[in-house]
Amino acid sequence: MTSSQLLRIVILLGTARKGAVSAAVARALAQAVQDSAGDAKVELVSVADHLKASRTIPAWQEDDKEAHPSSWCEVAREADAFIFVLPEYNHGYPGEWKLLIDSCGEEYARKPVTVCGVSAGVFGGRALADNVKPVLVELKMVPTRNNMYIGKAHEVVSPNGEWNLSPQEVERLIGLARDELFELARGLRPLRNVS
Ligand SMILES: Cc1cc2nc3c(=O)[nH]c(=O)nc-3n(C[C@H](O)[C@H](O)[C@H](O)COP(=O)(O)O)c2cc1C
Repeated sequence: MTSSQLLRIVILLGTARKGAVSAAVARALAQAVQDSAGDAKVELVSVADHLKASRTIPAWQEDDKEAHPSSWCEVAREADAFIFVLPEYNHGYPGEWKLLIDSCGEEYARKPVTVCGVSAGVFGGRALADNVKPVLVELKMVPTRNNMYIGKAHEVVSPNGEWNLSPQEVERLIGLARDELFELARGLRPLRNVS
């Protein structure tokens, strides 16, 4: 397996809220995906690492280099697939995630994405997942049909990012969406002329 054949999976934590349970979910998820994916390199990234919150950043102001938040667009350009870990805030997605996402454009095209919804309640962000898909399609991304729903997140993961579940239970939560994401990541590569 050469490094150019390795799939690069970027897991983006979509909230910058201090103490967010989603941060622990993102860590646990990154480990689980890496452990079950021999031909992938998983990279965990947070919106907080990239976003300068004082700015709005329309991607079409290409001449305004200062407006770009940081290297997020480069991370996105190199990725073969994404998992967006998004807590449900009032049935929607965190504003800081949308700001960061809107700072790039073509970097997302023809790349698959899975939504990992996170909530304190049992539903695991189902309303959020429905809300976010039109945004992903507009960005020319290919959303997986299956999502990951992490309900009662504060019980399901420990604060340091360990699952409080058996490997079989973790597999039930993430397996279908992960396998679909990997299948699409491999299948869509030729459309992007990646060797
Ligand atoms: C501003 C805000 C809005 C929220 N709205 C919802 C909601 O619509 N549905 C829901 O199930 N939980 C909601 N929650 C609770 C989150 O599910 C809970 O905080 C969970 O831990 C995931 O968010 P976190 O990663 O920020 O901790 C909300 C939390 C915040 C801070």
